[in-house]
Amino acid sequence: MYQIPRGTRDFTPEEMQKRLYVEENIRSTFQSFGYREIQTPTFENLELFTAKSGETITDELYSFKDKGGRDLALRPELTAPVIRFYVDKLQMEPKPLKLFYFGNCFRYDRPQKGRYREFRQAGCEIIGVDTPEAYAELIALSYIILEKLGLKNIKLNIGNLKILKTLFNKYKLTEKQQKYILPLIDKSQFEELKEALEDFNLSPNNINEFTEALQSSDVNKINQYIEKNENIEKEILRQKQIMELIREAFDIKNYQFKLGIVRGLDYYTDIVFEIEAPYLGAEKQLCGGGGYELVKLFGGKELPTAGFAIGFDRTILALETEGYQFPISTLDAYVIPVTEEMITKCLQISQQLRKQGFTVDVDLMRRGIGKALKYANSINSKKSIIVGPDEIKQESVTIKDMKTGEQKTVEIKNISEYIK
Ligand code: HAM
Repeated sequence: MYQIPRGTRDFTPEEMQKRLYVEENIRSTFQSFGYREIQTPTFENLELFTAKSGETITDELYSFKDKGGRDLALRPELTAPVIRFYVDKLQMEPKPLKLFYFGNCFRYDRPQKGRYREFRQAGCEIIGVDTPEAYAELIALSYIILEKLGLKNIKLNIGNLKILKTLFNKYKLTEKQQKYILPLIDKSQFEELKEALEDFNLSPNNINEFTEALQSSDVNKINQYIEKNENIEKEILRQKQIMELIREAFDIKNYQFKLGIVRGLDYYTDIVFEIEAPYLGAEKQLCGGGGYELVKLFGGKELPTAGFAIGFDRTILALETEGYQFPISTLDAYVIPVTEEMITKCLQISQQLRKQGFTVDVDLMRRGIGKALKYANSINSKKSIIVGPDEIKQESVTIKDMKTGEQKTVEIKNISEYIK
């Protein structure tokens, strides 16, 4: 027997039904905000990801050489591929360009609940605009997608890397030191962070102030931690405008400003945000995104870019944990031949009903009616159509309601009225 590779999963028809339902729901929300769907390849040239993405991503890559000696990698995420696509073919498109995607991603991660080596993302990128209303709409969209799916217990945290950088500058942290502490901030490892800041010779007072600022959730008080200048005043005002729009225009109140939101990927430079489902434990982050810079690095004409990605698998886990009732798959009718002579008639009736838009299956096993009805039940067929030699002489069949058990003789030409 062959084993499934570590960190990957097979999906049963029932699971696939949930996944397709969720995907359709997300797709329609993206479309309702004017986003258009795109697709990029599953693998890319390795350098696309090593050009900017942080160390973590490099360690996590599934990379390989193909038969032509090219260095390739399975995509760990879709932002870099989408920007490659934009720079290559979409630069002339009218702005803003609003693109969304679904795609499987691959990371050489340590698998656990909610963390896989192959997982699916639903994400989007907005290219060419960074007004407060653009950011407010983007952040609201990420929340609305999850809310519209039916999630009740989620939390939105919004940070700002431009404001955070001024804090780094205040304490004169070098690029190398910043790189070292960013993952600690990302994972809220404050004890380790304090130790690192001690090593960087920050005074105990400064260390306290620094960690307090990271955990502060009041954007109005952030002034007290940073050195004021015109640019940063403007940035704080922008941050406030965005948060006000999220509240006033999109009616989202369940969010927090958190300077400690930094994101794990290297390309972010602006507003960043995350949505978590607190009850999911270690892998509770459902969505992450923000403003980033990649266009110039990939050879395009610089312009603002932002986006987010929702972890598809974790979203399903969250829905299941919240006890969400997914619709179950049903069939309108299951057609059963009583004798072998009835098989052709059964196939004809099934096909006729399918052409009328019904979902219909037909017994292909030549088994007794009892067993066939049991199967019809197991696949959630609403009705069974039993085709026997006596009824067929009158151009009729027996229709059984699988819920009530009620049976009726119905003329073939009228079946559709009885299985509606
Ligand atoms: P990310 O935070 O690395 O961001 O991934 C987005 C989401 O994918 C996470 O919040 C999480 O739900 C899910 N995810 C990540 N790794 C795994 C895993 N190993 N197993 C299951 N789910 C996982 C990005 O990928 C950025 N490209 C988002 C973005 C788009 N930023 C701007 N535009």
